Amino acid sequence: MGLERLLLASIIAMSIFPCMLLPSANSEEVFPEAEAPTAESSDELWLRSWPPARVVSVDDYGAGATGCDDTEAFLAAWREACNSSDYHSMFLVPEGKTYLLMPVSFRGPCRATSITAMIKGTLEAPSNRSVWLDHNLQEWITFEGIDRLHVLGGGTLNGNGQQWWINSCKLNKSMALYFRRCTHLVVEDLEVRDSMQMHVAIAYSWNVLVSKLFITAPGWSPNTDGIHVSNSKEVSVSECSISTGDDCVSIVTGSMFVRVTGVFCGPGHGISIGSLGANKSWAHVSDVLVEKATLLGTTNGVRIKTWQVMHGLLVAEWHGNLDSSSLFSEF
Ligand SMILES: *[C@@H]1O[C@H](CO)[C@@H](O)[C@H](O)[C@H]1NC(C)=O
Ligand SMILES: *[C@@H]1O[C@H](CO)[C@@H](O)[C@H](O)[C@H]1NC(C)=O
Ligand SMILES: *[C@@H]1O[C@H](CO)[C@@H](O)[C@H](O)[C@H]1NC(C)=O
Ligand SMILES: *[C@@H]1O[C@H](CO)[C@@H](O)[C@H](O)[C@H]1NC(C)=O
Repeated sequence: MGLERLLLASIIAMSIFPCMLLPSANSEEVFPEAEAPTAESSDELWLRSWPPARVVSVDDYGAGATGCDDTEAFLAAWREACNSSDYHSMFLVPEGKTYLLMPVSFRGPCRATSITAMIKGTLEAPSNRSVWLDHNLQEWITFEGIDRLHVLGGGTLNGNGQQWWINSCKLNKSMALYFRRCTHLVVEDLEVRDSMQMHVAIAYSWNVLVSKLFITAPGWSPNTDGIHVSNSKEVSVSECSISTGDDCVSIVTGSMFVRVTGVFCGPGHGISIGSLGANKSWAHVSDVLVEKATLLGTTNGVRIKTWQVMHGLLVAEWHGNLDSSSLFSEF
């Protein structure tokens, strides 16, 4: 398997809609928005609005003191960071401590024009799987409905997924870190490990930059995708190292303008685009660029998966060194 792969794919899978072909275009034309932010870009100025007007540490709300459940303290700190200021605020998880978090959702909209979630410490998920099953919960840490959120800090999120892996079932996908309906989202410099299932999921979001994530789970752990993108537009994933038991990066229904660059994968299943056209529904993934990926010890390279291809149309254009047997391994 070659180490360097370059792939330009324009894929449309449609069930009921008429055939529509995207013109082939070079990557500069196709990805005008997915470049890294430049200092001049007014759209990204919020990233530099420093220092924040308000810094809210979870420790000020009693987190990290008892070794017990810190969820309520985190939520109280989030409410403060989210709504206490009209300007930029920071939600801080201090360094050198470990916090126990139950499944929790940090929601917007916020009064603050932008929020930095600075995660320096270690967040631990409950290892007892009944916490999820009892409450029918799927996500561990969710950020939802937030504009201009910047998550970083070099900290660690530990999903403690061992109980999930030995009781593996494919019913509902759970995830460690979930971003839903976020816009102008930047996620960088975090370690996410041993997720119950997916590590980082991005859904219904727009204008997302993900970089420098270090994601690990054992190669045998089932359904532990690295980064999962669905129904999102203008997503850039770069400089990540992903070693898990399932897809390294998976890009599914409703995603457009996704750029994956400089990602290391392995072990795992490689990079996948699909499943498309499930349940005869309208499904559309287009303008996906994968470049400078290193895939070591993955079961597939880059592949397109799809269900019910009889109802869909698949158009793909590939450039570069790709093994077509790995491309179409799962129809
Ligand atoms: C912040 O305020 C907005 C508007 O009042 C409200 O919708 C939102 O729920 C608040 N967020 C939090 C985390 O309290
Ligand atoms: C997990 O939690 C359930 C209750 O939610 C409890 O009955 C069970 O003993 C716990 N298991 C372990 C291993 O702690
Ligand atoms: C799966 O998710 C659906 C929809 O959220 C829910 O109704 C169902 O109970 C979940 N199943 C399990 C096993 O958690
Ligand atoms: C597929 O469609 C059937 C019938 O409309 C529905 O019961 C089922 O939940 C759908 N499955 C998915 C994955 O959406």
